[in-house]
Amino acid sequence: MKENDDDEPRARGRRRRPRRLRRGALLRDLVSETRLTPERLVMPHFVLPAERGEEPVASMPGIARTGRSELVRRVGADLELGIKSVLLFGLAAEGAKDARGTHAAHPSGAVPAALRALKREFGDDLLVITDVCLCAYTDHGHCGVLERGEVLNDASLPHLCDMAVAHAQAGADLVAPSDMMDGRVAAIRDALDAHGLERTGLLAYSVKYASAWYGPFRDAADSAPGAGDRKGYQMDPRNAREAEREALLDEEEGADMLMVKPALAYLDVIRRVRAVSNLPLAAYNVSGEYSAVKAAAERGWLDEAAVVRENLVAMVRAGADVVITYHAREALAGGWL
Ligand code: PBG
Ligand code: ZN
Repeated sequence: MKENDDDEPRARGRRRRPRRLRRGALLRDLVSETRLTPERLVMPHFVLPAERGEEPVASMPGIARTGRSELVRRVGADLELGIKSVLLFGLAAEGAKDARGTHAAHPSGAVPAALRALKREFGDDLLVITDVCLCAYTDHGHCGVLERGEVLNDASLPHLCDMAVAHAQAGADLVAPSDMMDGRVAAIRDALDAHGLERTGLLAYSVKYASAWYGPFRDAADSAPGAGDRKGYQMDPRNAREAEREALLDEEEGADMLMVKPALAYLDVIRRVRAVSNLPLAAYNVSGEYSAVKAAAERGWLDEAAVVRENLVAMVRAGADVVITYHAREALAGGWL
């Protein structure tokens, strides 16, 4: 007996045509699964411990270290574009670095002073996140206290807590520890609460790999380790199960949001963390990822707008709710999204 012609594989193939929904921009937009909106973006800034100043970062075209007045000017212009969240990194004053990164917690340091200036100018129109880590303030460039070549875990915690409290007292909406010491989320949460800062949120750099993609950042923040590397405290790129463990630990310790960093070589990790935690998840599109695209675009080898759109969409598609990216300003100003 002859089969019904309509169920014959070739006929089925003719009826089902995914290309039908790709015909024309309106249809593609209607059915797109991933939406990249400005409110998801966070723009990072490198802040000098000074009122004035603007120093371009050679390895990051378009990015500069700025004093407070230039920071306020840039953030104001970015707000007009729709960038409502910033992440601040502080630089140490000349001669202020020491073995313990004491200056990291100074209430008049680069970040607290910038926080006060931004909050005075923009109030609740701007969300300010601050990076909490000692590496820009230690003379050896490591993220914690160094003793006989080893970065001490528990001895670093009080310093990180003091830094987080100083930022919160100056007006940070979220503090974001990036040091990768064990137990720092719980310690910082307790320190904030003990200071009546229970409303300040904690965005944990939960899953932070020991990555070569941070190279340009270390020029920008003057935070490269003088000797050794960060493999004793940052994660091994070969591990993904361990990412789930780190994420769950930070959730238990009281983190409000989690982060995976870097983003592009770790999209699988973003997907995995998304699946094990219900907390909001940020992806950090780091300095080297930015500079690599910039360098290729400058040579005319890549279409910058299209590549940036594709990369940022990939992070959201993988499961990120929030994307921290140096491309934010140009992406919105140029209508790249
Ligand atoms: C500080 C810190 C780093 C980055 C964010 N916070 C550098 C590092 O850990 O060496 C990297 C950000 C980037 O590359 O854009 N601990
Ligand atoms: Zn650090």
